[in-house]
Amino acid sequence: MTILAIETSCDETAAAVYSTQTGIRSSVLFSQIELHRRFGGVVPEIASRSHLEKISPIVTEACEQAQCDFNEIDTIAVTNRPGLPGSLLIGLAYAKALAYAHKKQLVAVNHIEGHVFSSFLEFSPPFPHLCLTASGGHTSLYRVDAYGSYREIGTTLDDAAGEAFDKVAKLMNLGYPGGPIIEKLAQKAAFQDVFKYPRLKQKTLDFSFSGLKTAVLYDLVKRGAYDLHAKKFLAPGDEKLASEVSSSFLTCMADIFIDRLERARREHDDIRAVTFVGGVACNQFLAQNITQWADSKKLACYVPSRRFCTDNAAMIAFVGHYRAQAGLFADYTLDLF
Ligand code: KG4
Ligand code: ZN
Repeated sequence: MTILAIETSCDETAAAVYSTQTGIRSSVLFSQIELHRRFGGVVPEIASRSHLEKISPIVTEACEQAQCDFNEIDTIAVTNRPGLPGSLLIGLAYAKALAYAHKKQLVAVNHIEGHVFSSFLEFSPPFPHLCLTASGGHTSLYRVDAYGSYREIGTTLDDAAGEAFDKVAKLMNLGYPGGPIIEKLAQKAAFQDVFKYPRLKQKTLDFSFSGLKTAVLYDLVKRGAYDLHAKKFLAPGDEKLASEVSSSFLTCMADIFIDRLERARREHDDIRAVTFVGGVACNQFLAQNITQWADSKKLACYVPSRRFCTDNAAMIAFVGHYRAQAGLFADYTLDLF
């Protein structure tokens, strides 16, 4: 079976080709990051317009790189939820039109399920396992029992982890996206926990990152580095402060992740491995901390390569493949959500 997958849920226009025999044959994308950078976040209207421009060339490039004739494709998999409606709609309408015109089967894929199974593009994690998915739009902990069988056991009550990175970076006018910038700065402070932001105690396996962002804000105010009324950072160019804030923030985030993983492990004592996925899993410090924790518990730990952590269509193709094999096809009336 050969699948063409299309992903346009946020700010990446992505397409991939996957075959049963060979696995991933191509995975290409256009990242809109430069279009959104000056706004400090994704602007939905700009995202939709860019998807519309790029979808056709990206799909063509995915087929070319895979050296795949369109006749060879059996099934088109497409992300139809969750995401920005205007963005999702471009990929969905394109996939449906292609499927209808060329008489291909259609499969709907949940973007989060794509992330949850993204580690399978490079590894074979045993079931059951825990999956920590952390990105700009979502942060949840899943118990994964089989292909397509996964259950959310904890989620963020407010901001996603990546959103917290982006907001903290924005507080200090560091640029967008915040994750990679904060990681670099944290390294300059040797990943020390200088300011000891509070690790909020949580009775459940849920997360709350809005409180952490607020703790950073009020700590900056206390240090005279932020004017709350003018909403202005008062210490631009103070690299020592930015590094120490970044480092303290990152160590706090690592502790929160490990606390929830540890509690999930105790509640689910049959789990055999842990996977850490989504854009935030590009963070080497977090990945190392989670891997070390897993080692100490004799659990295998899998973190996908950077290109499969951030949004991509290869993970959509992988999920699309097992759904197609199970006969879970959609019809041409497929809609968002
Ligand atoms: O998965 P992704 O590409 O898109 C979403 O589905 O949201 O994740 C993007 C998020 C952004 O919030 C970005 O700041 C964060 O992932 N991110 C990182 C790192 N690289 C990207 N967060 C922490 N450390 C990083 N190195
Ligand atoms: Zn995502």
